Amino acid sequence: MEEEISVVPIHKHREYLLECCKLINDEWKRSETARLRSLESSCDYLPTNLILLKDKIVIGHVKLSLIPSMKDACFVESVVIHKKLRGQGFGSLLMKETENYCQNHLHLNIIYLSTKGQEKFYEKLGYQECEPISLYGGYFPRNIPKSVNVNTSGPPAPPMPQNKFSLPQTQQKTYMCKLLNNNCA
Ligand code: ACO
Repeated sequence: MEEEISVVPIHKHREYLLECCKLINDEWKRSETARLRSLESSCDYLPTNLILLKDKIVIGHVKLSLIPSMKDACFVESVVIHKKLRGQGFGSLLMKETENYCQNHLHLNIIYLSTKGQEKFYEKLGYQECEPISLYGGYFPRNIPKSVNVNTSGPPAPPMPQNKFSLPQTQQKTYMCKLLNNNCA
């Protein structure tokens, strides 16, 4: 029998809230109440939590958050695949479906994320290293890899409040991003 795979927003499938909570908490321990509250905040615009279902079982999750200063972008806060199902292409599938969702439902042009240790996984999906971005409001320019030619308009860029070289070693993360279509070029 063929397996049934789908990626859906959790706010349209609340019956999976507890299962998803468990999946995430198996990777990053946090109180169930706090985790559920975060999942329950999922909505049609950001924040949005998408789940990867395999034969109606939650095997993956991704959380997309708003970047207040960038209307056409979102930040991937976390991505997780069930521990026993890693290395089988499900993470790539979830990210590709997430990109489709961002383009087709949220009408976004760019995805940002930060990672410490999973750079290779994202590189294989076309993400490129970029400067750290601010997630807490204030104006920031579109921050894209130098290798991508994008038309930007607006005021000159303010100085970045920090970059990864000024952070303590333990906090260093790699910021990465991916343009979702060619309309920006
Ligand atoms: N280092 C190097 N290569 C990797 C890594 C890694 N850590 N993880 C995956 N890859 C490679 C795979 O080998 C594969 O390569 P191939 O196409 O040449 O065969 C490719 O990336 C795709 O791998 P998938 O099988 O699609 O990835 P998987 O289903 O294992 O999901 C994920 C990857 C989501 C990182 C999973 O390992 C996971 O849940 N890890 C624990 C949680 C985590 O660290 N999440 C990311 C945090 S960063 C963030 O959330 C923004």
